[in-house]
Amino acid sequence: MSTSRLKRNHHCGTISLEDAGQEVCVAGWVHVNRDLGGLIFVELRDSTGRVQIVADPNRNKEVHDKLCTLKSEFVIAAKGKVTKRPEGSENKESPTGEVEIYPDQVEILNTCRPLPFQIDQASGVNEELRLKYRYLDLRRPEMSSNLVTRHRITQAIRQYLDAQSFIEVETPILTKATPEGARDFLVPSRLNPGSWYALPQSPQLFKQTLMISGVDRYYQIARCFRDEDLRADRQPEFTQVDMELSFTDEEEIIAVTEGLLIKAFACTGIELKPPFQRLTYTEAINRYGSDKPDTRFGVEIRDLTEVAATSNFKMFRGAADSGGKLKALVVQGGAETVSRKQLDLWQEYAKSTGAKGLAWLAFGQTIRSSGIDKHLTPEELEKMKTLASAQQGDLLLLVADSDKVVANTLGRLRLKLAEELKLIDENKHELLWVVDFPLFEFDEQEGRLMAVHHPFTSPHLDDLDMLETTPEKARARAYDIVYNGVEIGGGSIRIHSQEVQSRAFTAIGLDRDVAREKFGFLLEALESGAPPHGGIALGLDRIVMLLTGGKSIRDVIAFPKTQSGGCLMTSAPSVAPQEQLTELHVKVVEEAKKQPQPAQVGAE
Ligand code: AMO
Repeated sequence: MSTSRLKRNHHCGTISLEDAGQEVCVAGWVHVNRDLGGLIFVELRDSTGRVQIVADPNRNKEVHDKLCTLKSEFVIAAKGKVTKRPEGSENKESPTGEVEIYPDQVEILNTCRPLPFQIDQASGVNEELRLKYRYLDLRRPEMSSNLVTRHRITQAIRQYLDAQSFIEVETPILTKATPEGARDFLVPSRLNPGSWYALPQSPQLFKQTLMISGVDRYYQIARCFRDEDLRADRQPEFTQVDMELSFTDEEEIIAVTEGLLIKAFACTGIELKPPFQRLTYTEAINRYGSDKPDTRFGVEIRDLTEVAATSNFKMFRGAADSGGKLKALVVQGGAETVSRKQLDLWQEYAKSTGAKGLAWLAFGQTIRSSGIDKHLTPEELEKMKTLASAQQGDLLLLVADSDKVVANTLGRLRLKLAEELKLIDENKHELLWVVDFPLFEFDEQEGRLMAVHHPFTSPHLDDLDMLETTPEKARARAYDIVYNGVEIGGGSIRIHSQEVQSRAFTAIGLDRDVAREKFGFLLEALESGAPPHGGIALGLDRIVMLLTGGKSIRDVIAFPKTQSGGCLMTSAPSVAPQEQLTELHVKVVEEAKKQPQPAQVGAE
């Protein structure tokens, strides 16, 4: 039963001069109310925007008296004539700023208790408080607009995939562990004492199974769960646009994905032009020190190992002799402009990323350095300048270390330089594919090769023979899509041949029986007439975050978690009642019996 007598027939944000003279009924929240010497002004807000309501005691005393009792966030309906605002009192900033409504009826639909923060001041409120009162935070226009943008992007993706003959299939949430490499969330089974479901880290096993079932093109806007350390672009539960195609190859998947991203980006007015740039993994690491390079700016890494290899300078020579590298970043014009203090900070930063240190060499009016130039001959200094493509006036930042450390340190320093020296053009939209990832990598902890992605990723067809000879050098038919330096998706062509699958298992020392136990049904299914297939998954939260200009995916998820995996609004996770635990056959060990403390919101 509705308790309201007034029925809304217009939305606040849509009223304009065209409605002047018309009677409308609007409803919403009291955003701001002001009593200006008799006249009361109320800014009424709904999901579309705000409109001004005015009560004049001389025109309608009853309405005026009612508006006098309003407080912030009361819910009201108001019916009255739309009027053009008097000359000079228009608000050019507001889309409804040329009009106001003089109601002849007002109904208070609900009151509101004093709130922990005002909606129009919420952007300055700390995030913990905003997450605790998420329903208030989501009333902010910026936040509701993020939800709408997310909806539009999701709809555009669904329409596009439907038109491309994909069908949406839901896959289980209560399932078995999936091989994405993070920790699983487990759910105890009441009906099977001592047994646990795992929440899916992705629908990987099911989407491959669907291909074997004869589904030609699958997609799902899929919830995924990963118990891993959280960051600004990571949540324990997040959403993927997950796809899998049969009888396919990299080119088809790349083309379909580019088409999808063009539609998604168009929702926020960004026009992308295919084909997107491609880089091999090796090129990305060598030039940018990262497998998700931000190519909105240059400052590429330069290889000076040639100098190190023949130099008498121990620090350089040592790195080269032990198979490492000497590489540099060039700060254009930095020789005279970068301060010692700044250089000290960069050196500290380099150390924090695992390098032994950061040397510098400035080609100013004279050559200055972090003490290295006296160990180098004039020819060597000149060679370094040439190899770095540096000009007079430039500054070189140098790391001599193992390949991995050099790439990691210079890759991260490159991003820091870009931020501090403001090298990034924020209007650029750089999409690029990173291809030819390595198939395996050496895992220090396990002391053996492990699949970089998962063990069903197909080796590059030209590298099949390497499975037995140099598996660490084999490339995978895997690809990532990167937008402005953020990995927004990744996928691969899968192995569908039993023979290749056995060879891949052997290469990483995975016994067939162990594999069978680990991947059980999928292995059997793959041996039951699997078509060639492959796919990709895009991180929907990350895409929406980037397209709405957000810094954290929490801003585009209605009810996100804190860094410690807690929901401040519902207080989840929480201690379960003893009866429930007994029913589930679960016993909590004493040390763990303290309340979790979901305090810190996020590490950026
Ligand atoms: P992958 O693990 O690379 O691939 O995940 C695909 C994309 O999902 C996003 N993503 C995340 N977003 C938010 N929070 C997280 N914790 C998180 N983890 C990943 C990223 C990433 O690029 N099954 C494979 C895909 C396939 O092979 O088809 C998979 O899940 O944007």
